[in-house]
Amino acid sequence: MQGVNTDVDMENVLHAAHEVNLLPSVCSVIGWPSFFAIDAQFTRYAIMTGQVKRRGAERLWPPGAQRLASGSGSPFFRNAAGSHFVAPAATDVMELMRELPIILFGVGGVGQALLRQILDCRGLHAIQYGLHLQLLAVCDSNGAIVEPSEGIADEMLREALTLKEGGGRLADHPDGGPQGDSYSIVDIAGRAGAVVVDCTASDATVPGLLYALERRYRVALANKKPLTIEQEVYDRLTSAGVTPRSNAAAPRHLGASRWEATVGAGLPVIATLNRLVAGGDAVQRIAGTFSGTLGYVMSGLQAGRPFSEIVREAHALGYTEPDPRDDLGGVDVARKALILARGLDWRLDLADVEVEGLYPVGMDKLPVRDFLDQLPALDAQYAERVQAAAAQQQTLRYAATIEDGRCRVGPVTVGLDSPLGRLVGTDNLVEFHTRWYNPTPLVIQGRGAGVDATAAAVLSDIIELAFAAS
Ligand SMILES: NC(=O)c1ccc[n+]([C@@H]2O[C@H](COP(=O)([O-])OP(=O)(O)OC[C@H]3O[C@@H](n4cnc5c(N)ncnc54)[C@H](OP(=O)(O)O)[C@@H]3O)[C@@H](O)[C@H]2O)c1
Repeated sequence: MQGVNTDVDMENVLHAAHEVNLLPSVCSVIGWPSFFAIDAQFTRYAIMTGQVKRRGAERLWPPGAQRLASGSGSPFFRNAAGSHFVAPAATDVMELMRELPIILFGVGGVGQALLRQILDCRGLHAIQYGLHLQLLAVCDSNGAIVEPSEGIADEMLREALTLKEGGGRLADHPDGGPQGDSYSIVDIAGRAGAVVVDCTASDATVPGLLYALERRYRVALANKKPLTIEQEVYDRLTSAGVTPRSNAAAPRHLGASRWEATVGAGLPVIATLNRLVAGGDAVQRIAGTFSGTLGYVMSGLQAGRPFSEIVREAHALGYTEPDPRDDLGGVDVARKALILARGLDWRLDLADVEVEGLYPVGMDKLPVRDFLDQLPALDAQYAERVQAAAAQQQTLRYAATIEDGRCRVGPVTVGLDSPLGRLVGTDNLVEFHTRWYNPTPLVIQGRGAGVDATAAAVLSDIIELAFAAS
């Protein structure tokens, strides 16, 4: 780095590269570091030169740094030791950074992945959005770590993660305590601008979520339950913040809540639906598979395998819930269908969703072992249904169908050449048949589960909410 030509021409070249986001590449060719971590009070922010927007003041420069050219916007510096480096064309990080307070309910698979991603994305969020996500409270089913004033330090977050990854309880953390209830946590830890995040699978969070919205905080949900209980709760959760002081209603999905991860995990199903509605398209029919486990079962049936063999295998491999009826019964899919139907402004309850499970009601109360033993009794009927469908160039899928004001979940026959019919394996797939997407539907396909994809969808919701109108 010593002895680099620092004449004005060189600077012009570098400035030009900087303007078109090629500075890191150019720097690597000429051997200048284009990336450094600011020390002292800024250590937590790694600043990448080419990605920071030009904003003004000077406190960001390291002590002793001298600008190489007189132009006030020059990002090129020589430090006290005489080495050259490229400083960010940004300025006072502390002025630019905005704390985004977060309260997290649920530190299971998704909640843990979310915390890991928040920690991993510190640099990205600082550089791209000027945000620092500050965890004010992190709660599991019986304990919480709460730091309402300073936020939980990253070191403590990592300790909490290690504790939860090892199956521990937050109440047992040295800085943890009993949780009380969701309302009290929001009351104690909440602060203006907070985002309350629900990564539980419980409806015990509902009082806290509603209270958060009353306080003009925002909420991001991976949890379907709050949106699939009473219609009134759905309405309050999804329409908060859409009628700001001006009284001009905003589209519901641009209000104070986001719930993308509740249907299709990380797939942009809710965003797509909301945009279709806001764009005035007429959604005539939504058909989709929303369970990787049931996709696995249906693909196995299509391949000619006995129903009992597929379910037992899926159970042994851990693809199903410990009680496979939790998947085969279709209730989880029904919740997703209801969220989509309510997204169309249909006023339905979970009881209105017609659900056909993959086993008869009579097998409902059996112990899991007996249930698995009795599955071969269902093999013949599934083999017949699959054969009958194949004779019509169709196949069986376990799908949710939302059409004509009705919501139905269960096995359906679909054309082999349709998007659902072509689907193989555990992916989720959603077809939107609308006025503008007709006769070919708008199709979204991809993995519909997995803690990382789900957590990333929640994180994206949180970042959107940071910029949502309040
Ligand atoms: N996993 C996926 O691929 C996926 C995909 C899409 C959506 N989701 C949804 O995301 C949510 C979380 O899924 P997950 O797989 O992370 O579930 P999980 O592993 O069972 O974790 C649930 C977490 O919620 C905590 N919890 C339960 N009741 C609570 C309460 N009242 N207050 C605070 N915390 C409470 C649990 O505490 P303990 O640790 O003390 O038990 C646990 O930490 C679920 O609603 C799920 O349907 C998951």
